[in-house]
Amino acid sequence: TKIHDQTLVRGTGGELHQIAEGDAPVLTTAQGAPVSDDQNTLKYGERGPSLIEDFHFREKIFHFDHERIPERVVHARGYGAHGYFETYKSLAKYTRADIFQRAGEKTPAFVRFSTVAGSKGSADLARDVRGFAVKLYTQEGNWDIVGNNIPVFFIQDAIKFPDIIHSVKPEPDRGFPQAQSAHDNFWDFISLTPESMHMVMWVMSDRAIPRSFRFMEGFGVHTFRFLNEKDESTFVKFIWKPKLGLQSVVWNEAVKINGADPDYHRRDLWNAIQAGDFPEWELCVQLFDQDFADSFDFDILDPTKLIPEEIIEPIPVGRLVLDRMPDNFFAETEQVAFMTQNVPPGIDFSNDPLLQGRNFSYLDTQLKRLGSTNFTHLPINAPKCPFHHFQQDGHMAMRNPVGRANYQPNSWGEGPRENPQRGFRSFRDEVEGPKVRLRAESFADHYSQARQFFISQTVHEQKHIAMALTFELSKVETPVIRERMISHLLNIDEGLAETVAEKLGMKDLPKPADAAITPRDDLPASDALSIIKN
Ligand code: HEM
Repeated sequence: TKIHDQTLVRGTGGELHQIAEGDAPVLTTAQGAPVSDDQNTLKYGERGPSLIEDFHFREKIFHFDHERIPERVVHARGYGAHGYFETYKSLAKYTRADIFQRAGEKTPAFVRFSTVAGSKGSADLARDVRGFAVKLYTQEGNWDIVGNNIPVFFIQDAIKFPDIIHSVKPEPDRGFPQAQSAHDNFWDFISLTPESMHMVMWVMSDRAIPRSFRFMEGFGVHTFRFLNEKDESTFVKFIWKPKLGLQSVVWNEAVKINGADPDYHRRDLWNAIQAGDFPEWELCVQLFDQDFADSFDFDILDPTKLIPEEIIEPIPVGRLVLDRMPDNFFAETEQVAFMTQNVPPGIDFSNDPLLQGRNFSYLDTQLKRLGSTNFTHLPINAPKCPFHHFQQDGHMAMRNPVGRANYQPNSWGEGPRENPQRGFRSFRDEVEGPKVRLRAESFADHYSQARQFFISQTVHEQKHIAMALTFELSKVETPVIRERMISHLLNIDEGLAETVAEKLGMKDLPKPADAAITPRDDLPASDALSIIKN
């Protein structure tokens, strides 16, 4: 940053005025009127009352008073960067998505990393899931992969999302703790929600305290579908693999960093990109068909389960490079609106009940947060391909239809038309059954993959999990909640349960929690789940 020589003129009260000269633009109001004095309000006499006629003052303060918009209800603290996605080779066999047709093609991208639970001003090294949301501005519409750095989730059905989030946010009567899972409400909810056990093991692992955004994996979590030209479906899971490998800090470091530099992750990304040290990820896909889905040990619609990488190898299909910081944090990082329902032709949803619920939630929340149905008019959210529709008006409309026709069909030869060949088509999924509010029995095994994850860890990683559970549960004041958690841990790993119970000073071990399905101990440890690889 260059410091300019500047002419400063002293005012009658000793205040300094910086006068426009040379190339410096003249300060104006938002209506464009040049401003003569930005240091003093308009008054009756030098020491008199201020005048309501002072439109410059009123406009300036009015705008300032309205600077804050609601922070995101989750993932409030985040940091974004621009870049591009480069396609390695055509995937036309599997998908007609335009982004995957031509090797070497570059697609503009914007990524926002985040923590989930803390508010906008919370510290970067909280023990928490990290959001990994990618917007790809493809030639056939924006594609958002709104993922996390953990491949599974806490709950199986979106109807439980408000509950899990309420439980992790500050308790309503006392308004704390902030951005910490270490409290009674969170562990109360978890201990009453066996489906959370797999995710909780990941959150207690070193994955939840990454060294930097640059050393994290990203996961689309849900099973999606690729659809090719013939509308044939292949199931797909999306995984981002960092070129730099995976690294985490230890809890002791995390606590110190949070105190010394709560912006640690932001600063890291800013410094790396400014230095030209551009972080890079490979997009990998796990592809499988209906026969695999039918034969796999778990339900591929269950977002608390993953498909181990030894069973289906992730295939790299392109790379993501982040090479430019936003010009303005608010305009871009704050106003970016990710939505799981943003998919281009050739990519489709599965019936995962968490994904189906998310597809409702994100549009709804963007209207609340950004305040207008026209949030797609903001440059960060607008498609970068040609787009034409008849939506009009509303607050802050900037792209109203041009001409006479704002509907179709019309007789004026104006406006856009449908395209059955190129347009988005859903997979012709055959669904039948009674209308019920029921969870499928195929979702009922809550412990086997939690155990598989734990045994996949190295000894020191397992120790970190035991220490994290001990720390977290030691903050829980209600004995029955601690006991419930130990009874779940007994179904995951007896040694782990005993270690944590002993460290918590528990005299007797509780009985293992009732399991709907006997937890399996025949699943091999999966190398692909191990944390620190380099
Ligand atoms: C925000 C991921 C489940 C509702 C986000 C963001 C990410 C994310 C990364 C931040 C986006 C950004 O950086 O702007 C996930 C993942 C989930 C999940 C991976 C499970 C696999 C859910 C569910 C719901 C939900 C089940 C609701 C039913 C929201 C809302 C926001 C959000 C309301 C705030 C969006 C905003 O204000 O811009 N989620 N989420 N999420 N998520 Fe989720």
